[in-house]
Amino acid sequence: MSVILGIDIGGSGIKGAPVDTTTGKLLAERHRIPTPEGAHPDAVKDVVAELAQHFGTGGPIGVTFPGIVQRGVTLSAANVDKAWIGLDADALFTEATGQEVHLINDADAAGLAEARFGAGAGEGGVVLVLTFGTGIGSALIQNGVLLPNTELGHLWLRDKEAEGWASDRARERDDLNWKQWSKRVSTYLGHLELLFSPDLFIIGGGVSKKADKWQDHLKLERSKLVPAKLLNEAGIVGAAMLAQEGGAATQKADEAEKPAASKDALKADGKASKKK
Ligand code: BGC
Repeated sequence: MSVILGIDIGGSGIKGAPVDTTTGKLLAERHRIPTPEGAHPDAVKDVVAELAQHFGTGGPIGVTFPGIVQRGVTLSAANVDKAWIGLDADALFTEATGQEVHLINDADAAGLAEARFGAGAGEGGVVLVLTFGTGIGSALIQNGVLLPNTELGHLWLRDKEAEGWASDRARERDDLNWKQWSKRVSTYLGHLELLFSPDLFIIGGGVSKKADKWQDHLKLERSKLVPAKLLNEAGIVGAAMLAQEGGAATQKADEAEKPAASKDALKADGKASKKK
């Protein structure tokens, strides 16, 4: 058994639990602390340190972040404070906790966990996990190996950014019933099917708890589609899995240079927030 602390940074709560990374099971009840208003890095750092202290597992910690994470640097911030852009958040958390922190995109973490221990367990081939919540997150996995930071929620479709049009937040904002929302999601998934030909789509995020409302409305031509199984544990489990593997899935390599925030990453976020 290998026990690693997983922490999931979300828009309303920051949740942690120790995970047995060989089974994907939580070894203690999740501890949740509300996300500080605005989710500024300094405030979030204090919460991460508090969770590390609460569990006292020692050893590496896996932490998720709702934006692009490359070699520990956070490079976009569509739904959190813009101070994250270009920040070496991995170093910030490592210093705050005194433990080695590995940072991973939230959907990548949830996707890894779903593919190995959840709805994708035992399925080979190409799996595309999408999380529908405030935004749309994506994880593209082939035979258990993740291609990080795919950011397919920011794909433009019919002159609209997918996340601003088909997320769960868009459903609430536009007062759509589940059938109307499913129609938008079907258009989006149909396009992704054309681009990636996944063997399996896994639909996660907040909407996975209400699969009975949308499952019958989502039909694809070639791919199978199933709701996620790990619900709100997926991010915690995936973060711990990644930390156990030493962060390899986020291209973290000591000898590699830390990336700088590119103008493009900034531009993409600027566009996203204006259109919402
Ligand atoms: C972010 C992704 C994230 C997703 C879900 C998007 O706005 O760009 O990185 O995975 O929201 O939180």
